[in-house]
Amino acid sequence: MAPDAHFEHPRLAPIYDALDPDRSDLLPYLALAEELGARSVLDIGCGTGVLALQLAARGTAVMGLDPAGGSLAVARAKPGADAVRWVHGDASALAALDPPVAVDLAVMTGNAAQAVTDDDAWATTLRAAHDALRPGGHLVLETRDPSARAWEGWTEAATRRTEHLPGVGAVETWVQVTRLALPLVASTTSFVFASDGAVLESHSLLRFRSREEVTRDLAHAGLDVVDVRDAPDRPGLELVVLSGRWPGAAAAAPPRTTGR
Ligand SMILES: C[S@@+](CC[C@H](N)C(=O)[O-])C[C@H]1O[C@@H](n2cnc3c(N)ncnc32)[C@H](O)[C@@H]1O
Repeated sequence: MAPDAHFEHPRLAPIYDALDPDRSDLLPYLALAEELGARSVLDIGCGTGVLALQLAARGTAVMGLDPAGGSLAVARAKPGADAVRWVHGDASALAALDPPVAVDLAVMTGNAAQAVTDDDAWATTLRAAHDALRPGGHLVLETRDPSARAWEGWTEAATRRTEHLPGVGAVETWVQVTRLALPLVASTTSFVFASDGAVLESHSLLRFRSREEVTRDLAHAGLDVVDVRDAPDRPGLELVVLSGRWPGAAAAAPPRTTGR
């Protein structure tokens, strides 16, 4: 699937960071990398590279992977970007890399996991993450807890805001659900640029997965859930799932999908 305009468009990818400058959501991932003593990290769905660059600045070997070239261009232009290996593509691109990737920790932050909506693509992503881990390595991903029904707050009235961005001017933005077909939620985010009146829309499709589904899907990819944590900055709203590839463990065959 083509990346959302929010992550790809040349006027939207560059304002992604400025629209949401509070990245305290990433602090637990930095702490986890330290807790696990991870010396190498793969950031799947790295977007504009905020976490990848923070990890690299600490001396961690980092690979940042994303299918949105617009976001990767933003990441590559940041100070310290040369210390990160950026890969354009989804997780299936990892199989072609030589030498093969073998990291201590793979991460999927910012609910990137929910952008993988297709069952086969999800299975491929988890399997590729598994294969990119050294035996004993870990994958941590976050996904909105469906029981918190986040989509109910995605209305124009609840989300409309105007931000004044340096060098860009005022940008008014809001999000609206356009189709609710659980576990899939389609929404549109609108952006109005005061400088020239341009109106851009980004269409998103997200897949919500329960704790049980994520645990099952990880197991199919050969990854055992070690812990399910809360996101401290979004208490009660997220499932932060830590899983491990056990030393010497081989992945099970990919699951047969049955059109959930
Ligand atoms: C909300 S952004 C989060 C970006 C970054 N992880 C962060 O925390 O700022 C979701 C990201 O997932 C990426 N994405 C979409 N589909 C993907 C896929 N199949 N595999 C990996 N990443 C994907 C998008 O391009 C986007 O950069």
